[in-house]
Amino acid sequence: MERTSIRLGGIEIGSSVMNASGARSAERGEIYELCAVHSGAIVFKSCNRAGLETPENLKNRGVEYFQAIAGELIARNKIVVGSVVGASEEEFIDVARMLDRAGVSIVELNLADDYVTKSVAPFASFERLKSLLGRVRGETGGVLAVKVPPRAPFEPRAIADLFKSMRIAIAVCANDLPKDLAIDLATGEVQGRARALSQAHAFFNESENLLDVVAVGGINTGRDAYIAHLSGARAAQVGSALMKEGAGALGRIDRELDTMLAGHGRKSVSEIVGKVRFAG
Ligand SMILES: Cc1cc2nc3c(=O)[nH]c(=O)nc-3n(C[C@H](O)[C@H](O)[C@H](O)COP(=O)(O)O)c2cc1C
Repeated sequence: MERTSIRLGGIEIGSSVMNASGARSAERGEIYELCAVHSGAIVFKSCNRAGLETPENLKNRGVEYFQAIAGELIARNKIVVGSVVGASEEEFIDVARMLDRAGVSIVELNLADDYVTKSVAPFASFERLKSLLGRVRGETGGVLAVKVPPRAPFEPRAIADLFKSMRIAIAVCANDLPKDLAIDLATGEVQGRARALSQAHAFFNESENLLDVVAVGGINTGRDAYIAHLSGARAAQVGSALMKEGAGALGRIDRELDTMLAGHGRKSVSEIVGKVRFAG
């Protein structure tokens, strides 16, 4: 859809709606099904070097499997996001390098999963985070994204500044908006004092146009995506809705978002990014 098309990390993506890593994106068949029904970017399941059988949520066939699929999809002009996990800093860097060399548009470092927080422990100290990201940055040439843990132990400003200084273009953040958030969709107005409404919004507030935010979590409808955009996200990732509904969920959410944009007189989704305002 023309209206939902946007640039993310400097890359034109056909739609601001994409699958979240792991949701119907672990197997070749699933990935091809997503590609068939949605023209936007495709995010691969997180992969490590040799593949994993456990934990169940990170079961994957290893980076070479995804390298091969990336090659096929890139030849069809698909925007591919590779996602990295690893049990050590070396493995993490290796997998990131391999996906980067395979030509994916964006390498997403999954620093949000327990498997990574327990093994690589990237957030054990700020120096540790800096060292890991610096090493990955040094070994990769493409656009980098980091999936941030929902309860990261450092302030959004400190993490955002680090990302900016390391040319990490994208922060994938929790869309943990208050359940009872009342927002006027026409004006973006929210009652009360100015505040960060979600992790995604907090990172947007620190972005200075140098960091793009992607929101993930609880995006099940075009309205959810619209609100994620108002609170600063340039793209929205869909997990559970895809698992429940099948690949068609992406197209549905994209169409609902497009209809809402048209209804509010917007020509492009980029017009509403970060436009939330506080009335208090
Ligand atoms: C079946 C399944 C597998 C997942 N696998 C991964 C994964 O490999 N890497 C990752 O970063 N997140 C993974 N996730 C988390 C999602 O990317 C997303 O962050 C989470 O589901 C929240 O979004 P939702 O509320 O739309 O479900 C997975 C989620 C599901 C449901």
